[in-house]
Amino acid sequence: MVSNQVKPVEPCPVLKTSRTLKSRLLLELDMAVELISAILFGFWGILVATVMSFIPRRFRYKDVTGQVILITGAGSGIGKLMAKKFALKHGAIVVAWDINQLGNDDTVTSIQTAGGKCYGYTVDVSSRDAIYKAAEKVKKDVGKVDILINNAGIVFGKRLLETPDENIIKTFEVNALSNFWVK
Ligand SMILES: NC(=O)c1ccc[n+]([C@@H]2O[C@H](COP(=O)([O-])OP(=O)(O)OC[C@H]3O[C@@H](n4cnc5c(N)ncnc54)[C@H](O)[C@@H]3O)[C@@H](O)[C@H]2O)c1
Repeated sequence: MVSNQVKPVEPCPVLKTSRTLKSRLLLELDMAVELISAILFGFWGILVATVMSFIPRRFRYKDVTGQVILITGAGSGIGKLMAKKFALKHGAIVVAWDINQLGNDDTVTSIQTAGGKCYGYTVDVSSRDAIYKAAEKVKKDVGKVDILINNAGIVFGKRLLETPDENIIKTFEVNALSNFWVK
């Protein structure tokens, strides 16, 4: 009896080998291209760094002398350090915002006694109204703000499931939403 079933056609062994060889060659070519790109990219980085090292710093960085820089969370940590550096080292006019009046006053006083220019405002950046009010005051007292550094931030340091809802809301109000109101 003759079977009616159609047997699957086996690929020709020569064709199969040449296809595998081709894909292996393509893969190796791909790897070689990636390696050469990485080496060239490395050389480019070294070249740029070498050239930049001969250019004086004042031509490499933005000059902020006399510019008004508003820093939120200037009452402690990184905000305080930035406020001091911008005012005393780079001659900027710093506007310091913080919810913590004591810390912020300390930033303002230390800058002013060292000869720098700094204006302090007690502001809760989680409150849109407080931000708008303070912004109006800054416009009147100091003028237009050139650079804004949204630095104020809070961390509750708990696992998500252990964090109360109000803490999650506060975190978003201070760390995220305030960025839209301090615009
Ligand atoms: N220190 C780090 O290692 C680190 C790492 C990653 C990110 N950061 C971020 O950098 C920023 C500064 O960090 P830091 O270590 O100096 O923190 P910090 O706690 O020392 O300073 C934050 C300042 O923000 C102020 N602030 C908090 N809530 C405020 C509010 N509602 N309104 C106005 N001011 C408010 C605080 O009073 C404080 O002075 C934060 O946004 C922080 O999340 C810090």
